[in-house]
Amino acid sequence: MSVRIGIVGSINLDLVASGAPLPAPGETVTGASFARHPGGKGANQALAARRLGADVTMVGCVGDDGLAESALSILRAEGVDLTGVETVKDQATGVALIAVSPDGENQIIVASGANACVSERLVSKMPDCDAILCQLEVPIDAVMAAFERSKGLFAVNLAPAMDVPDQLLAEADLIIVNGGEAAFYGEKLLQNKGRVVVTLGKDGAMLYENGKVAGSAPAFDVTAVDTTGAGDTFSAALVVALAEGQDPESALRFASAAAALAVTKAGAQPSLPTRSEVETLLAKP
Ligand code: RIB
Repeated sequence: MSVRIGIVGSINLDLVASGAPLPAPGETVTGASFARHPGGKGANQALAARRLGADVTMVGCVGDDGLAESALSILRAEGVDLTGVETVKDQATGVALIAVSPDGENQIIVASGANACVSERLVSKMPDCDAILCQLEVPIDAVMAAFERSKGLFAVNLAPAMDVPDQLLAEADLIIVNGGEAAFYGEKLLQNKGRVVVTLGKDGAMLYENGKVAGSAPAFDVTAVDTTGAGDTFSAALVVALAEGQDPESALRFASAAAALAVTKAGAQPSLPTRSEVETLLAKP
């Protein structure tokens, strides 16, 4: 039976310029090619969990503009429950301007728009779930409301890094950060009473329990085309695997495989792997 995952988070349309070097501040670079895809850390995590076999409910906001349906198109087509997604009058749908370099690194700037309207009231529409996963592209009050409401596993991907209540750092069941975010939160992560997972790109991922190393997973060796959405894929896959009852080391390996597959294709949502793709990679000697 599928696990039910609740996602409280952002919904964006990603406007992507790829193939040119990343610009320095004040610099203009030319020669990129353009694409647009549905994105947003929340929406990416919702779709990733769905493709990995979970039943997914999304809580979020879009604007009453022409971008909203594009931003929601893949979630809708693939059966994510969107009854917790509201259209906000006189607001723009969130947009992410993304530059992707020839070696797959990215720079992202987000115009949050309607994502800033995700509220405690909206979170109260979330049904009971086996796990809830949040990120930080929606107001922290909404994240804390999800934390208070959670009856199962409560996970938070602390991205993008910003100040959050100490209670969240100490009491979330699962925190997921990359190396830069781990440096931002520093010692406070070691106070967490649950599990903290730090993703380290080509160096794999580390699991901490009660502030001590409790496991690790190496990265899969793939050629990076576009790293956008890899962290979202990892977070969703880890939560799905733990909610299914996989042990932490297996769950870490499952998440690493999913994230590796996500970097081999362009775009956030178009690159999210299916369950069978992940299982095929895991089965390789
Ligand atoms: O994590 C990748 C996502 O960050 C992109 O899809 C973009 O929308 C930003 O939210």
